[in-house]
Amino acid sequence: MKVLLTGAAGYIGSHTAQRLLDSGHEVYFIDNLSTSDKRNLSKLNISGDFMDINDVEKVQELLHTHRFDAVMHFAAFISVGESVQNPMKYFYNNTAKSISLIQSAVEAKVPCFVFSSTAAVYGMPKEIPIPEEAKVQPMNPYGLSKSMVEQVLLEASKYSDMETIIFRYFNAAGADTTHGLGELHDPETHLIPLTLQHLLGKRDSISIFGTDYPTPDGTCIRDYIHVLDLADAHILGMEYALREKKSNIFNLGNGQGFSVREVIQTAEKVTGKKANVIEAPRREGDPPILVASSEKAKRELGWVPQRNSLEHIIKSQWDFMQKL
Ligand code: UFG
Repeated sequence: MKVLLTGAAGYIGSHTAQRLLDSGHEVYFIDNLSTSDKRNLSKLNISGDFMDINDVEKVQELLHTHRFDAVMHFAAFISVGESVQNPMKYFYNNTAKSISLIQSAVEAKVPCFVFSSTAAVYGMPKEIPIPEEAKVQPMNPYGLSKSMVEQVLLEASKYSDMETIIFRYFNAAGADTTHGLGELHDPETHLIPLTLQHLLGKRDSISIFGTDYPTPDGTCIRDYIHVLDLADAHILGMEYALREKKSNIFNLGNGQGFSVREVIQTAEKVTGKKANVIEAPRREGDPPILVASSEKAKRELGWVPQRNSLEHIIKSQWDFMQKL
C-alpha cells in the first residue's frame, strides 16, 4: 500500500512509519515540525514535505499526484495541561486543521483515513476498563478537539467512499531500540520520559501531579501501551478498512492500569536509581483513571499487543534515551 503519514516526525508517527516500511509498504510524510524532533525523521528512509496539513493547495496536489491507499493522520498537539491553558490552540490545530485535511482526502477520493484519537474523549468514564460504547464526554479541550474530528470523520465516511478507522490511544510509551527511535517531545510533558530524564540527571526531580485522587495510592492511574503495538494496530486497521470496506472505532491499550507512583517505582527499578519525588498539586484536566478494554481491536483486527510489561516498556525508552 502507498500511505501518507501526517506527523511522521512525531513519536507514534515515526514508529508507525518504520513498521510500515518493515512490512513492505510505501510511505510518504508531511510534517510541519511544530512539536517534533527531526532526529526521529532522520532515522527513517522516507521522503516527504515539510508543510501544514491545512495548506490546501499543496495537500491536494500531493494527494492527486500520489493516489495514496491511505492517509494516517498523527499530527496534533497532545498536552492535556496546555489544552486547558490555551483551548483555542487545540481547537484550531487539532480540529480545524484536521477538518481541512479530511476535506482534501475526501475530495481526492482517498479510500482509507486512519485517525489518531485518544482515551481523553471519555472524560471520567463510569465503566473501567472502558469499552468503545462508553459515553464520549471529554473533560478537557484536548479530548474535545479530538472527539469533534471523530464526528466529522464518521459523517465524512457516511457520505463518501472513504472508510475511517479511529484509534483511541491510551498512554503510548516505550521505544523502538532496534531502529533508534523513541519518545522525544519538545517540550516533554509525559510521565515516563520526564521521570527518565530526571533519573538521567537532566532534571532535579519528578513531580507527582495530585496525590488525593480516588485511587488506591491517591495518584492517577493510566494504561501504558507500547508504541510498537500501537504501530502494528495501524497496519491492521488500514488492511481491515480496505478489505472489509468498513469504518470503525477501536481502543488501543493494555487493559492494565498503573498509578503515577507505580510508574516512578518501576522506573527506579529498571534504572537502579532513586528518584527525588515531589508531591505537587493536581494538573487541571486529568481524569483519575483511564484503562482500556481493547477486546474489540483484538477480536475484529486480530491485534495482539506483544510488549505488555511496564518494565519492558520503560526499559526500551531508557535504552533509547541513554544512547541519545
Ligand atoms: N504526571 C505527573 N507528573 C508529570 C507528568 C505527568 O504526575 O511530570 C501524571 C499526570 O498528571 C497523569 C499521568 O502522570 O496523571 C500521565 O500523564 P501524561 O502527561 O504522561 O499522559 P496523559 O495521561 O495526560 O495523556 C496521555 C496522552 C493523551 C491521551 C492520554 C490517554 O498525552 O494524548 O494519555 O490516557 F489522551
